[in-house]
Amino acid sequence: MIPDELIDRVRSILNSHHHQAGALLPVLHDVQAEFNYVPSEAVSEIANTLKLSRAEVHGVLTYYHHFRQTPPGKHVVRVCRAEACQAQGGDALVAHAERRLAQSSLTLEPVYCLGLCAIGPSIQIDEINLHAQVTPGKFDALIADLEGTP
Ligand code: FES
Repeated sequence: MIPDELIDRVRSILNSHHHQAGALLPVLHDVQAEFNYVPSEAVSEIANTLKLSRAEVHGVLTYYHHFRQTPPGKHVVRVCRAEACQAQGGDALVAHAERRLAQSSLTLEPVYCLGLCAIGPSIQIDEINLHAQVTPGKFDALIADLEGTP
């Protein structure tokens, strides 16, 4: 996308939050929903419009694991890193996922609880599909399905 068009879309998002106190987080959420990540060009525009420094915007952007600063791969696979899933094999699943996806076009991200704590470890695919009690074998089967999709 050409930067002018990108900036126009970011401005439109900023306008929709014009009178909202504490607009930074909602704006960042909307920008990521629009582009699947928060482009660096958007950070200056957001900072200027909300009268914040670039460092303040960048600080929030990097504090929350939810926000991406680069475009994701074809699919996003989130593995829960929270305590209950860790206690049910989550660390081993993360290590397996990192190895399995090292050369993949899929994006691996951490997430901190998906609401399936009693039946972990849990993962989420593309912010839609939740899967519980994910073993390395089940993980591989789910990834094989994703890699087979266009
Ligand atoms: S701790 Fe993993 S789903 Fe809640």
